[in-house]
Amino acid sequence: MSPSRAPLRLGSIAPDFKAQTTKGEIQFHDFIGNSWVILFSHPADFTPVCTTELGEVARLQDKFTERNVKVIGLSANGLESHERWIDDINEVNNVSLNFPIIADDSREISTLYDMLDYQDLTNLDAKGIPFTVRSVFIIDPKKTIRLTLSYPASTGRNFDEILRVVDSLQIGDKNRITTPANWKNGDDVIVHPSVSNEEAATLFPGFRTVKPYLRLTTQPGKKTETA
Ligand code: BEZ
Repeated sequence: MSPSRAPLRLGSIAPDFKAQTTKGEIQFHDFIGNSWVILFSHPADFTPVCTTELGEVARLQDKFTERNVKVIGLSANGLESHERWIDDINEVNNVSLNFPIIADDSREISTLYDMLDYQDLTNLDAKGIPFTVRSVFIIDPKKTIRLTLSYPASTGRNFDEILRVVDSLQIGDKNRITTPANWKNGDDVIVHPSVSNEEAATLFPGFRTVKPYLRLTTQPGKKTETA
């Protein structure tokens, strides 16, 4: 079985939904408001990899907040299960998890977001129903999906990488630049191919031409160390 509506792609508007969460009921588009949002699912509560992942997201909470990013988790478990599991996450990871987790026992939202893997028979719960996979959606304040990721149940995600993508997207939205392989906030960036050399001379004084199609410049707005 596969979802009957058009698949969500980069550039799609994130579908709206109403949900029960560990922080109360939300209407997703109202929750997004003027923030960026990371909506991420995990296979199930009380599972080992997921316990480390949600602990890591809780640990990175300040880094998300300083980028105007709200995080929200989801799995096909009920609120009472989420609440009990959060106690374990906090204890095991020595954190205080403060972001909402959606209770999607009906799998309505995970179906809407295509978070259920129908192919992987190792990814079934005790009733033979597929778990939600490790999906990530980065959604911008216009409610546009800017990144999608699906990871196998066996592999915990690297949330520093999610933050890195947020940095790249936010800097790229404000400046006509792109970011190279393994770029980190503060590294040099690439002048967007749509920028002519004449425009680049004004926008990015001192830019360097490696090849006519690969021009590098200092990251706009980069904070420099003061003595
Ligand atoms: C885990 O989080 O460890 C996990 C969850 C579902 C299947 C396999 C691993």
